[in-house]
Amino acid sequence: LDNGLALTPPMGFNDWNAFGCNVSEQLIEQTADYLVSSGLKADGYTYVNIDDCWMTHTRDAQGRLVPDPAKFPDGIKGTADYVHAKGLKLGIYEDAGTATCAGYPGSLGHETTDARTFADWGVDYLKYDNCNNNSDGTRADYVNRYTAMRDALAATGRPIVFSLCEWGVQNPWEWAGDIGNSWRTTGDISDNWASMLGIAKDNLPLASAAGPGHWNDPDMLEVGNGGMTDTEYRSHFSLWSMMDAPLLIGTDLRKATPATLAILGNKDVIALDQDPLGAQATVLSDAGGAYVITKKLANGDRAVALFNSGDQAQRIATTATAAGLPRRGSYAVRDLWAHQDYDTAGQLAATVPAHGTVLLRVSADPVKGAAALL
Ligand code: DGJ
Repeated sequence: LDNGLALTPPMGFNDWNAFGCNVSEQLIEQTADYLVSSGLKADGYTYVNIDDCWMTHTRDAQGRLVPDPAKFPDGIKGTADYVHAKGLKLGIYEDAGTATCAGYPGSLGHETTDARTFADWGVDYLKYDNCNNNSDGTRADYVNRYTAMRDALAATGRPIVFSLCEWGVQNPWEWAGDIGNSWRTTGDISDNWASMLGIAKDNLPLASAAGPGHWNDPDMLEVGNGGMTDTEYRSHFSLWSMMDAPLLIGTDLRKATPATLAILGNKDVIALDQDPLGAQATVLSDAGGAYVITKKLANGDRAVALFNSGDQAQRIATTATAAGLPRRGSYAVRDLWAHQDYDTAGQLAATVPAHGTVLLRVSADPVKGAAALL
């Protein structure tokens, strides 16, 4: 969506994966505090997003949505003010049907009022779900429902990232590019290896649909929630960054382990996701679950993920030229998880543990590389 927003994939937090319907003003504000104190805000995590279950079951006399006063004693406006005072942005959730997935009032037919309400409260990001939509399943139906909210948001004049959660419809990457800043490409993620891997496999082939302002969304992060090993979470975070996915933390940051924070806060990996070129990675080869995935970066470097989806350690190898770099005598390599720098004549190879990823940033060194060729 060409609204000037999400020129790199949105980064932040969303409560759903860790808390479900247990959202509250206190959780959102404590998370905002923690994003600042932990340094994650400085790493780029900006949006603090409220998911389903934030409102009451009935609209007010003017037809407006009403925040649950027990969960949000200061309302969404008060919560937004708090989050904004921390230099962060606030996201909210609604649904393009008669009710949200959890049964709260939906926005279908109320798009203008609800968009106006969100803008008045200071909302900066809307996740727009697809439950209870009475759809006839035609593309015209879901395009209309999502376009109505896109236009209502635009009419408010407030910059609001529009995140489509249009699960259950056909190939959103074919039609959502000028409707949303991102669109979900799969069903919901769960905190286990099979779910994460299945989603990655579905999302990897969709690179051509992604770019600045319009991203494939393979759903929010599970890093830190306990259902995968740290090796698996590093693969999860590597793949999401290579795929230019929105990076929405989905764990209770107040209880996060040092290992979780080291994954979510890896600046070199985040830089792949946030690279200004916005070129989603593509798969070079995947024989036997030995994935070589490459991503073009704005400064001419390539990111290379040697990802082992198999259950045994295996050697995975490629070369700098196969990854798309020009022919040189020497290349500079940074291993983004081992935090090591080395030079190579062109081989990029590692023995990768089961479910692990060796993630490299490779540059054709213009000085050393050319000299070595002489
Ligand atoms: C379905 C979405 O895919 C989830 O991410 C979450 O927003 C729930 N709905 C909330 O009901």
